Amino acid sequence: MDAKHVVVAVTGASGGLYALRLLRSLLMNGHCVSLVLSKFGTLVLQEEVALPDGATFLDRLAVLYGEEVRHGRLDEYKMGDLTAPIASGSVRTDGMVVIPCSMKTLSAIAHGASTSLIERAADVTLKEARPLILVPRETPLNRIHLKNMLTVAKAGAHIVPAMPAFYQKPRTFDDLADFIAGRVLSLLGMEQRLYPPWKTP
Ligand SMILES: Cc1cc2nc3c(=O)[nH]c(=O)nc-3n(C[C@H](O)[C@H](O)[C@H](O)COP(=O)(O)O)c2cc1C
Repeated sequence: MDAKHVVVAVTGASGGLYALRLLRSLLMNGHCVSLVLSKFGTLVLQEEVALPDGATFLDRLAVLYGEEVRHGRLDEYKMGDLTAPIASGSVRTDGMVVIPCSMKTLSAIAHGASTSLIERAADVTLKEARPLILVPRETPLNRIHLKNMLTVAKAGAHIVPAMPAFYQKPRTFDDLADFIAGRVLSLLGMEQRLYPPWKTP
């Protein structure tokens, strides 16, 4: 399989486990990831999943999921670094995933704000007509949230709500998160083996 370059952004909505399971799969399959975490993305992730210590995010994933994650490459960028390669459309990527996506970041993307690296990279992904996949998480949704989702969908983004299904008979939180990660991989045009396809009982 050809290695792809995917931008992964983690924002301050609940559900950092979705991002960890996606990162695990991308890296184990040898892909290249440019990773950006917002301030609240870091805070909520740490609150929900006690990530092990490590010098880099890849080191921490390796402790959590094993050395196989080193088959891929992980470059970390700061939210405020608007000089990062992924801030420019001239740098080729195969798409971007905001997972989980807060309502604040959804709103900023819907309005083309581009004031942080996450917002700018999403704006670039849309203008370059590459896949932009947002995994929003909030409940209940107000009209502003719904309107912003429609706005980004009309602009070409894919909305993959953090709504795992139960017909796969998940037994663990990882199974639930893998269902969403698998849906994201499919939209990126990648084969996914995180959950089996539905079969008529
Ligand atoms: C523990 C915790 C859980 C949160 N969960 C959500 C959530 O599920 N969805 C959401 O839109 N915002 C949630 N928020 C609020 C966002 O973190 C906040 O709006 C923040 O400004 C988002 O910024 P960011 O998009 O730059 O990460 C949560 C905040 C905290 C502290």
